[in-house]
Amino acid sequence: MNDFVFKDGELYCEQVPIGKIASEIGTPFYVYSLGTLKRHFKVFDESSKIMNSIVCYSVKANSNIAILNFFFRSGWGADIVSGGELFRVLKAGVDTSKVVFTGVGKTEKEIEFAINSSILMFNVESMPELYLIDGIAGRLGKKAKIAFRINPDVDPGTHPYISTGLKKNKFGINIKYAVQSYEDAGNLKNINIAGLDCHIGSQLTEISPFNDAVTIIKDLLYKLINKGFDIKYLDLGGGLGITYENEAPPHPSTYMNSIKSILNGYKGKVIFEPGRVIVGNSGAFITKIVYNKSTGHKNFVIVDGGMNDLIRPALYEAYHEIVQVVKKRGSKIKADVVGPVCESADFFGRDRIFNLPEAGDLMAIFSAGAYGFSMSSNYNSRPRVPEILVDKDRFFTIRQRETYEDLVEKEHIPPLN
Ligand code: LLP
Repeated sequence: MNDFVFKDGELYCEQVPIGKIASEIGTPFYVYSLGTLKRHFKVFDESSKIMNSIVCYSVKANSNIAILNFFFRSGWGADIVSGGELFRVLKAGVDTSKVVFTGVGKTEKEIEFAINSSILMFNVESMPELYLIDGIAGRLGKKAKIAFRINPDVDPGTHPYISTGLKKNKFGINIKYAVQSYEDAGNLKNINIAGLDCHIGSQLTEISPFNDAVTIIKDLLYKLINKGFDIKYLDLGGGLGITYENEAPPHPSTYMNSIKSILNGYKGKVIFEPGRVIVGNSGAFITKIVYNKSTGHKNFVIVDGGMNDLIRPALYEAYHEIVQVVKKRGSKIKADVVGPVCESADFFGRDRIFNLPEAGDLMAIFSAGAYGFSMSSNYNSRPRVPEILVDKDRFFTIRQRETYEDLVEKEHIPPLN
């Protein structure tokens, strides 16, 4: 079932016509379906329960506090990568005993903030980071719980920019040095070893790279347990892909069953950090045609949203389905859908077919709920767009459109002569 559906030729999100939202708040905007979020939450949550597990939603995928609050109220924790994300999850009411902090460049300030917030654990990505955490915990008179993020050198078979578990990547500790790293950590006064962590990449559409990584990590897990380390948490990261075009990623229950059968017998808690699989297909980006332009060589549908609002096509040449919000009849044209930003990478789709696209038509760009708004920027001094949450026949603005004043609010002209 999909919550973005056509009724009488017009696109709805749940029971709300997209055109109605557009006429009230203008364009462009992001719209999310609470119904889809709830369904994805339930499927993943129920599948994960075949193991003793905690789900820590990966905040970077979509970090609006209204959406975070839904996950936290429903019992999930958070996977964070910055002090800003920690601030957001606290605002959204997270249980900090379910927060894991990953990332290669955690600063002293961020580490102190996280220790003071009593998070579940740091997923440590280098030895200098470990020593810094030990020092800060000592100064605060506390103990910091850690896991090492281990790089298993497995190819996730995804876009190179979102592969993280290969030895050429900056992420994690080389598995060759894993045991030594745990032994060194065991000698530090202010560190409690709590877990083992691994995340190999995002938008995985096959099960085998997950299986390969978990098999490698399991070997290490038992090596560590046999050496007497108390590995209470095994964090397997996120990465499960979604359908943008015609990919057929494994269902969460297939993924969980496969992991369970590899891990069989592990007594600790398994942590999952899903992002995209939960929010990706719950959201669409809505934009309006400003002009049709034909250069004599190509047709362009120029819309009022740009790469600053949704950067995935520009950055990864990612495919997103694009439809006209009101179905039309009439002559078909093939066109690139592009934005107003001064970059040739500012496109949403190439060589797409539309029926009589005209200025003023609304377009919906699907699968934009993950890494859409969260990667948006103000490039070309474009105010960031609003985010709308639909619940059945109601809709709520969960982030307002930025104003021109917002663009310059933090800037100052110094008194130069
Ligand atoms: N855990 C860690 C440590 C991560 O780095 C990530 C994503 C996740 C969990 C969540 O992964 P997911 O379940 O969403 O695949 N901007 C890119 C994706 C970057 C992913 C970064 N890390 C995109 O738009 O495709």
